[in-house]
Amino acid sequence: MQDAEQLQWAEDKWQQIIGKVSLTSRRIGDSFPYISIDGQYYNEEPDWWTNGFWPGLLWLIYRENGDERLRNLADSVERQLDAPLHQYETLHHDVGFMWSLTSVAQYKLLGNPDSRRRALTAASHLMGRYNAKGHFIRAWNQPERVGWAIIDCLMNLGLLYWASEVTGDPRYRHLAMEHSDMALRDIIRPDGSSNHIVSFDPETGQRLGAISGQGYAADSAWSRGTAWALYGMALGARYTGENRYLDSARRTAQMFLDHLPEDGLPPYDFRAPHEEGMGMDSSAAVCAASGMLEIARLVPAADARYYRDAAFGMLKKLDERCGTWDDDGEEGLLRMGTANFPKRAFVNVPMIYGDYFFAEAICKLRGHEELFW
Ligand code: GLY
Repeated sequence: MQDAEQLQWAEDKWQQIIGKVSLTSRRIGDSFPYISIDGQYYNEEPDWWTNGFWPGLLWLIYRENGDERLRNLADSVERQLDAPLHQYETLHHDVGFMWSLTSVAQYKLLGNPDSRRRALTAASHLMGRYNAKGHFIRAWNQPERVGWAIIDCLMNLGLLYWASEVTGDPRYRHLAMEHSDMALRDIIRPDGSSNHIVSFDPETGQRLGAISGQGYAADSAWSRGTAWALYGMALGARYTGENRYLDSARRTAQMFLDHLPEDGLPPYDFRAPHEEGMGMDSSAAVCAASGMLEIARLVPAADARYYRDAAFGMLKKLDERCGTWDDDGEEGLLRMGTANFPKRAFVNVPMIYGDYFFAEAICKLRGHEELFW
């Protein structure tokens, strides 16, 4: 496939995304959509980890067409996030997901000083979750999880790298690299696959073992966790220029591609036995594709072609398999995402982060290099 054909496909898809979001945004408005059930997104509480994705999608579109209605919606969601930001107790490590795609996005696009303050406040919270003995950022707040680190957190580190860039203070970056190096040692396996949760003794920092989370088992390969590892390490490489992060991202990308079914739709776990009604996960595939397009920016031209073609192939197949363009009664852009198959929570449904990563990857295929992460 030639670049011109890829570009044309991406351009056509982008126009479909704009068309659909322009319509769905009239009902969804400035709320917190998470999962689409029977065609409509239902809302989460303000502190939920996915609350940046809808405004992030609106900012991707505003960046190109300057639609003030969408800007106002994204800004309103961001202002509503002040409640959890200042309430503190319900904050968790996913402040990166929440404030990168809201406040960092708005600051990058419009220079709003309130957005900068919000994002730096969130970055300071993330710093405060660091365990200096175990070199990890604590994921969740339950007392029994005080020593838990999870692979997803790599995607939150962009907030710290950004904070170092805008403040000129390297501490945020130093800490992001400490956590990334911990992930290289203790969470991501040599074959590029990843644990979901790893437990440490919070006093001594000793690694106690892996714990099964949203994947099939402690030693399996949760596909969205694989995508978080891939994209998170690519982000680390982009911000730091460190080859060890790029090499890790490349190993995980290869692992992802080697296990991907022919139709481009991964199971919720690459190492789960097949079962009737099993969860598949389009969100893992679109996140991985966007991460591969990041890798393509960082590797020599001959290798870049490989990652770009792989990402394009995945997006195109997913679009054919999961796109909702023929269904005006469906608010989601992509079907077949799975939030948590072991708990049978939201299986094979549209999910807001699948929509976001699909749109983000399409923007990258069309030449956008600036990230909100
Ligand atoms: N970060 C939570 C998830 O991927 O479901």
